[in-house]
Amino acid sequence: MTDVEIKKGLAGVTVDYTAVSKVNPDTNSLLYRGYPVQELAATQPFEAVAYLLWHGELPDAAQLAEFEASERAQRALDENVKITIDLLPLDAHPMDVVRTAVSVIGASDPEAYDSSRESDLRKSARLFAKLPAIVAYDQRRRRGQELIDPRDDLDYSSNFLYMTFGDLPDEVVRRAFNVSMILYAEHSFNASTFTARVITSTMSDLYSAVVGAIGALKGPLHGGANEAVMHIFDDIGSADNVGPWLDAALAEKRKIMGFGHRVYKKGDSRVPTMKAALDTLVEHYSADGPDAGDLAALYDALEAEFVSRKGIYPNLDYPSGPAYHLMGFDTLTFTPLFVAARVTGWTAHIIEQAASNALIRPLSAYNGPEERHIAGYVADP
Ligand code: SDX
Repeated sequence: MTDVEIKKGLAGVTVDYTAVSKVNPDTNSLLYRGYPVQELAATQPFEAVAYLLWHGELPDAAQLAEFEASERAQRALDENVKITIDLLPLDAHPMDVVRTAVSVIGASDPEAYDSSRESDLRKSARLFAKLPAIVAYDQRRRRGQELIDPRDDLDYSSNFLYMTFGDLPDEVVRRAFNVSMILYAEHSFNASTFTARVITSTMSDLYSAVVGAIGALKGPLHGGANEAVMHIFDDIGSADNVGPWLDAALAEKRKIMGFGHRVYKKGDSRVPTMKAALDTLVEHYSADGPDAGDLAALYDALEAEFVSRKGIYPNLDYPSGPAYHLMGFDTLTFTPLFVAARVTGWTAHIIEQAASNALIRPLSAYNGPEERHIAGYVADP
């Protein structure tokens, strides 16, 4: 076999430039178009961060007002999308529902195959505006509840929570949700974003690239980890069972969801900000009973035990799972929330890739059978 160096999983391989974000494991930092994500999370509405990712600059007051008005005007669940969702089984995984809904939006969009930047920006804003109603409706229908129409007098986060739960969120919940959307929005060439770029590199359309990205994000090694974190918490039960549970899990060589990262090796730069948001929710809900405090104790116990045993640190999915649980979202809804946020990063990369039109097609090293021939076959003279 010829001597080739395989880069399994493209680990450590730099394949292209991007101006959208910079992940720096050495400084443990993340910049969106040059701004530290912590500063954006502390000062901006998610709508402004979406604008920044697409346009490269934060909007001024007039630009933000214009974008907000446009976003609010297209939040409603389209009738054909609702009919399609209602055809799906109630126990269909919400990521399959979201993937299908985006396909319907794409198949119904007359400008789906217009790959101009202006058209792709319109489609990006359309998906940004419409995903909350899809995610909220799917959770409500699984609970036997009716669709709640959006309100155009509410900001993105307040409206998302209102459509899901039917009442206006407390400010601490709205703020924590807004922070989670900003932290989840973008992260350079992660698996789902790179999937979207590969699809775009063939000159396919934006909706096809987003549908492919949703498929990639669903996996528990990627976005599906935030859902899996809550399954682990349910499995462990309480803080005092962390040790025995980890003994068994590590003996079976299981991956502990919510920990580890392909790029960050000294901890995920976003975790402190999301953990601080989680702490505000724990305090807020502690008055309702022991559940929040017990969850926090279990969270801290598992992190301390796993880090001390394996030196592997939490990633963003570890604090975001419990945060969404305290906000009242079903565990199955957690990864669709990731989609609603990451659609901004995906579409920013799709637009960037479309401008480069370089087909992504790596090489492979063959390790199958040597050349051989069909018995008795004689090629035509
Ligand atoms: C996201 O790329 C991104 O930016 C993704 C993301 C984004 O914003 O888009 O940040 C979002 O996907 C975060 C990751 C969510 N996934 C999980 O929480 C699933 C659990 N994590 C692991 O599967 C793992 O850490 C990965 C997949 C995230 C990273 O995988 P790598 O790079 O292949 O892991 P590694 O090479 O660093 O592992 C080194 C060693 C291995 O042990 P050995 O085989 O060498 O003995 O550490 C072990 C791994 O088995 N290890 C773990 C572990 N993570 C690494 N062991 C147990 N549990 C874990 N979570």
